[in-house]
Amino acid sequence: MTVKKNQKGELRSQAWFGKADKDGFLHRSWMKNQGIPADEFDGRPVIGICNTFSELTPCNAHLRGIAERVKRGVYEAGGLPLEFPVMSLGESNLRPTAMLFRNLASMDTEESIRANPMDGVVLLVGCDKTTPALLMGAASCDLPTLVVSGGPMLSGRVGGKEVGSGTDVFRYSEAVRAGEMSLNDFMDAEAGMSRSPGHCMTMGTASTMASMSEALGMAMPHNAAIPAVDSRRNVLAQEAGRRIVDLVREDVRISQILTREAFENAVRVNGAIGGSTNAVVHLIAIARRLGINFGLDDWDKLGRNIPTIVDLMPSGRFLMEDFYYAGGLPAVIRALGNLIHQDAMTVNGHTIGENCAEAPCYSNEVIRSLDNALTKNGGIVVLRGNLAPKGAVLKPSAATPELMQHKGRAVVFENIDHYKARIADPDLDVDETCVLVLKNCGPKGYPGMAEVGNMGLPPKILEKGIKDMVRISDARMSGTAYGTVVLHTAPEAAAGGPLALVKDGDMIELNVIGRRLHLDISDEELTRRRDAWIPPEPPMAGGYQRLYFDHVLQADEGVDLDFLVGQRGAAVPRESH
Ligand code: FES
Repeated sequence: MTVKKNQKGELRSQAWFGKADKDGFLHRSWMKNQGIPADEFDGRPVIGICNTFSELTPCNAHLRGIAERVKRGVYEAGGLPLEFPVMSLGESNLRPTAMLFRNLASMDTEESIRANPMDGVVLLVGCDKTTPALLMGAASCDLPTLVVSGGPMLSGRVGGKEVGSGTDVFRYSEAVRAGEMSLNDFMDAEAGMSRSPGHCMTMGTASTMASMSEALGMAMPHNAAIPAVDSRRNVLAQEAGRRIVDLVREDVRISQILTREAFENAVRVNGAIGGSTNAVVHLIAIARRLGINFGLDDWDKLGRNIPTIVDLMPSGRFLMEDFYYAGGLPAVIRALGNLIHQDAMTVNGHTIGENCAEAPCYSNEVIRSLDNALTKNGGIVVLRGNLAPKGAVLKPSAATPELMQHKGRAVVFENIDHYKARIADPDLDVDETCVLVLKNCGPKGYPGMAEVGNMGLPPKILEKGIKDMVRISDARMSGTAYGTVVLHTAPEAAAGGPLALVKDGDMIELNVIGRRLHLDISDEELTRRRDAWIPPEPPMAGGYQRLYFDHVLQADEGVDLDFLVGQRGAAVPRESH
């Protein structure tokens, strides 16, 4: 499906700007109020710069500066850059969770691209959900597309030590609850943790998705790791601006980069970097927009035996700044050797193999060799069983090895409010061998599949010095979090999945090697409980949340809305007047 040129071989944007009639006048005249000279409508590539800048999304608050650098590159290459906003999703502020709005932002992106005069698009992203949202929307349109991430913050510094976004918030908050850190010290840590523009500088979801963009071939080499404030981030943005013009001229569309091989590369890279479990739902959603048959089993199969070689928090010790100085993602891809489809094409016009063939590694501590891995079996484990017929995921590199084979008594929280009301109760009947079960935090249940799966342990367990227990939910977990946490259980409780039927005292078996998650009750008892289950009401009677509730797919299908799956192209719509 070529959408770029009309029968005369003109670019798509000429359907707006190339006409000598009333409609052409309308399209050009109003654009000229921005001081655009007439000759810039002469048929040169028009590049949309899709910007998720927002002061309410602190991770993306510097993206206007990046957009200016992309524009320089577009002008240099003979294109016309036009920046436009789409809904921005800030993980740290949005309630009930940014994930509730990922699909809405993807719709905004898709419709903005299709409805406007552009021939190619640069996606400016940063905070977690902004990357998948924009990729999903762009994938459904299929124009030439290039991702530029905003880059991570500088390493946090608190009390003379390096601290990581998110990971150390969870660590400090547990320390306060365990009486090991004062509230004053906790408050003082805020400014030092986030001391420069950029997104979380651990290998959280933002850094993971920036790495995924690079591994998929959608971004220029080193997109993942250059710090937001490093001048080389601006150089990358400018080069990306030049390159998107070439992609339009060469008619290289997103579907030619995002092939099945690209997704397979991304899964393996995710294992090697100890990437976020959130990448599972995001990559499945992006692939399904392109009609690529890619799902949970691919994650398990392709990621199995991939060693985690990047020693970054939350799985390891270092931060994204260290990762960049150590050689960044190209060094990891090079280390993976023939585990990577070397001939997968990338947006800079070279294969991923060509891009990374000579990539140097400057620190074997931060980026280890395959035979000296941080975790031998990285990747994402997919569990199934009568508690998760459609699957659940666990990140072994963030889990406690001794807990990965475990059988324990369920302590059940019906929803997040029940959990909050009950977790600190000294009378809660729980010990460290129990399995904490949190229901109704999935796509429909929360709503939006919040990052609460790594629920904090009961204080009376923490006081014993115990830092991890098996936890199971239909929620997600922040990419910066850690623990023996079973996530994305599908179907979720609010959709009538077996998770809804677990009761206090049931025995649950987790067997990571056997990929099994089993609720130890009879099928008859399960059926009895299912018959008594009452489905939840939608979160709102109308509006987007109702649309979302009625149409959201489960975690194994990427949590997209059912009617958004697939491509709809970017054919030029009819005139507006
Ligand atoms: Fe935006 Fe972590 S809060 S990347």
